Amino acid sequence: MVIYDHPWAYALACSFRDVIAEVDALRSWSGEARTVLELAAGPAEHAREFARRGVPATALDLSPAMCAYARKQGCGLPLDVVQADMTDFRLSSRFDLVITMLDSTAHLMTLDAFVSYLTCAREHLADGGLAVIEMSHPADRLSDTPRVSAAWSVQENGVSARVRWGEPSDALDPITQVVSEHVTIAVDGGEVIQGVVPYRFWTATELDAAIRLAGGLEIVAQYGDFDAGVPLDSSEAWRMITLLRRTR
Ligand SMILES: C[S@@+](CC[C@H](N)C(=O)[O-])C[C@H]1O[C@@H](n2cnc3c(N)ncnc32)[C@H](O)[C@@H]1O
Repeated sequence: MVIYDHPWAYALACSFRDVIAEVDALRSWSGEARTVLELAAGPAEHAREFARRGVPATALDLSPAMCAYARKQGCGLPLDVVQADMTDFRLSSRFDLVITMLDSTAHLMTLDAFVSYLTCAREHLADGGLAVIEMSHPADRLSDTPRVSAAWSVQENGVSARVRWGEPSDALDPITQVVSEHVTIAVDGGEVIQGVVPYRFWTATELDAAIRLAGGLEIVAQYGDFDAGVPLDSSEAWRMITLLRRTR
């Protein structure tokens, strides 16, 4: 996907996130995890933040460009970067915490792919380990009041950009629940990066079904924000964050 061939632009577009606060939440939910695996990690912002805090982290992604970028940015940190498919990988370690951030599961196009991803995540959890999946909030697609905006501006290290993630004409296919989103990252005074990214929309009940089909995992909590005080069904909720424990 073209957008992921420009990791620096993707990282700039997503720099609206408070990665430090998100990692604070992930650490506290996991009971101070001692090892972390980030799946579909892209630039591996969260894995790198864990590594900066002295927690050895592994970042896995399919894109060679993203892996190269994460490796370079994480140079000198206790960070391993692995190029692999999140639905089909085997690492020699198990982890206290396995995270999948920013709706990366929208790249899983079928129920079988979702189940394979969950099975791989489960097999890499240490005893008592926690998996955290951050997905977009279903209200974005199933209500008249989406929780997030498709257009925003960012500024980081003196570079600013205008981002458009999806156009009003990008229609969700009602049968496959896939939408091809037109993405534009316009760096002020510089490059304009454009691409089309296919995303599969997953409902909360489909997530439930995939977890049951994968087996060996149970939902221990769901939140609507990294602030754990925001329930999933609150009008304040803007993400669907699911915490899973291994049951066998
Ligand atoms: C929306 S980006 C999110 C990156 C990162 N999770 C973050 O929080 O910024 C999605 C990432 O998923 C990766 N990806 C897509 N399909 C994948 C797969 N089957 N296995 C591993 N990575 C995949 C892409 O290369 C891309 O880096």
